[in-house]
Amino acid sequence: MTGSKDDREFELTVNGKRLTVSGAPVGASLLSVLRDNLGLTGTKGACEEGECGSCSVMLDGNLVCACLVMASTVTEASIATIEGLAPSGTLSRVQEAFVDHGAVQCGFCTPGLIMAVSDLIDRQPNADRETIREELAGNLCRCTGYGRIIAAVESLLNEGDL
Ligand code: FES
Ligand code: FES
Repeated sequence: MTGSKDDREFELTVNGKRLTVSGAPVGASLLSVLRDNLGLTGTKGACEEGECGSCSVMLDGNLVCACLVMASTVTEASIATIEGLAPSGTLSRVQEAFVDHGAVQCGFCTPGLIMAVSDLIDRQPNADRETIREELAGNLCRCTGYGRIIAAVESLLNEGDL
């Protein structure tokens, strides 16, 4: 029954906190539960079919599209969202680099890109430009043309002390 509410509560671990989800639609995606049930609206939804990357979050250390994950199936997982990168209000290194390089225009793609770049610099601290482009190919931006985003990432990799 599409759109019906799930009477059962379940819990998710998001940014290190155990949170109770109640009243979510049956089969709700992690994206919709994060935004609509838990109020974590930093994660954005656009295509809702795994094509744009705007909903990128970390799930047990892996970058995933939250729109493709059924929330009730990840109750034992560790989920990290954009809100978890700056819990005290101080920007993360990646967020600062985006600001410094003017890599944000409308900002809709930015949370997903910040999550993807944070993951990239952890996994591939020596990535070259081609690798950066390949790694970020799943995160679409309609505004920037990617040049300033790539520059922001390269500035992080060039710090040499990751
Ligand atoms: S909203 Fe999830 S990939 Fe586009
Ligand atoms: S800054 Fe607008 S979509 Fe990327």
